[in-house]
Amino acid sequence: MKTYDTVVVGAGATGLTCAWRLAEAGQDVLVLEARDRVGGRLRTEDHNGSDFEIGGQWVSPDQEALIALLEELGLETYSRFREGESLYVDAAGVARRFTGEDLPVEEQTAKEIDRLIGVVDDLAAQMDPDRPWEHPQAAELDAVSFAQWLDAQTTDAEARDNIALYLGPAMLTKPTHSFSALTAVLMSASAGSFTHLVDADFILDKRVVGGLASVPAALAERLGERVRLSADVTHVDWSESGAVVTVDGEQIATRNVVLALPPTHVRRIRITPELPAEHRHAREHQSFGLVIKVQAEYDTPFWREAGRSGTGFGPWQLVHEVYDNTLHGKETGTLVGFVSDLNADAMGRLSADERQAAILASLASYFGDAALTPRTYVESDWQHQELTGGAYATSFDVGSLTRWGAKLHEPVGPIRFGSSDIAGHGFQHVDGAVRMGTRLAQQLLEQPSLGS
Ligand code: FDA
Repeated sequence: MKTYDTVVVGAGATGLTCAWRLAEAGQDVLVLEARDRVGGRLRTEDHNGSDFEIGGQWVSPDQEALIALLEELGLETYSRFREGESLYVDAAGVARRFTGEDLPVEEQTAKEIDRLIGVVDDLAAQMDPDRPWEHPQAAELDAVSFAQWLDAQTTDAEARDNIALYLGPAMLTKPTHSFSALTAVLMSASAGSFTHLVDADFILDKRVVGGLASVPAALAERLGERVRLSADVTHVDWSESGAVVTVDGEQIATRNVVLALPPTHVRRIRITPELPAEHRHAREHQSFGLVIKVQAEYDTPFWREAGRSGTGFGPWQLVHEVYDNTLHGKETGTLVGFVSDLNADAMGRLSADERQAAILASLASYFGDAALTPRTYVESDWQHQELTGGAYATSFDVGSLTRWGAKLHEPVGPIRFGSSDIAGHGFQHVDGAVRMGTRLAQQLLEQPSLGS
């Protein structure tokens, strides 16, 4: 039986980056992907004659690994439209216009928001995102939910709800009572600072011409026949000298295995001998957040004509944030909005028609009745796909990052693990996936048996 140097399981951004770096270095590598396409959480779909990015799409200036890869692959970027006034829908449902970064709230609340941003920035500055469990306050920050921590920081409900929005619904896509303050600090540190996260012009800066899914597509093209689709890996049998990977009853021998999967999906594979207990516990305490990404395409970007940027925030709205998502070079106009965590649960219980009506009504709170009648309406449905199961990514429950975070990075025999969800810089983002894929390839190439 032929023996590969490395079998990579999963053709998302992590797996393909890892495989390409190994192939470039002359290794004999095979990528096995369960879906009939590459890209994982990156995908562009055609609806009604227009492209819609269903998964990840934005690139920010701190994402240096991704930006370097885009350049290497010859992919171009363009800026998100952001000219004009933004909107803030307040607790009473009133849409208030503003420009710049400062929300149109009472002066006292604005000061409190700035103070809280400063507090999280200071905590993030003390963190190496690759080792959040080594933060000087790791134990105490991981022992409380972000909701509890915020409650203890301020009595200003509007300031609290806005800070909660950035890290809960907008980023980790979980209720703020379900993840720890340490995880919130990690999310901030992974983007350079909390200031970066709250600045939409920074964090949602650029898009890729042709879509961010062009990255896995270009990598897969370079890998050619080394990528096998519709190959759902069901078993990995390993010893210290190598492993046998099973797909559809076929056995493939390899010296190394990279499971380039979200931690939740390692459990779908029967690994023999089984992973050490702590590895299993660690992954049992990881779960996907949930957000419904909604895109509505209109005949024209009508908000621009009214001097609006298309950007809107509403911590108490069903659609808590919305942006102009018009495609490069298109005359139609597209809005993208997000419905997160508990709101996404509630929407999931409605019929498709009821959900669309509720979500468009929320968009109308920002942009008026013109938002009610798009020509095309598209919801991303990652939560219904077994091979993903949520969006954007996975994270730990309260107390688990310090307890098991480091475990997720430890190899077991010839098996290594990676995904954007365990990245430090670029945590839960494509940049993190690229960094993880690169790091895993480097580690494998430095092994005495593979590197020389
Ligand atoms: P990913 O999940 O993509 O890949 C894992 C692969 O493994 C999948 O292809 C899966 O099918 C495969 N697989 C699983 N089990 C298998 C098995 N047993 N055998 C074989 N294959 C198996 N990021 C960003 O940078 N900017 C953004 O704007 C956004 N926005 C965004 C929106 C939405 C709606 C989503 C869902 C996600 C984002 N993200 C994002 C996050 C980003 O898309 C994500 O972090 C990376 O694409 C994850 O890449 P990975 O390769 O780590 O995992």
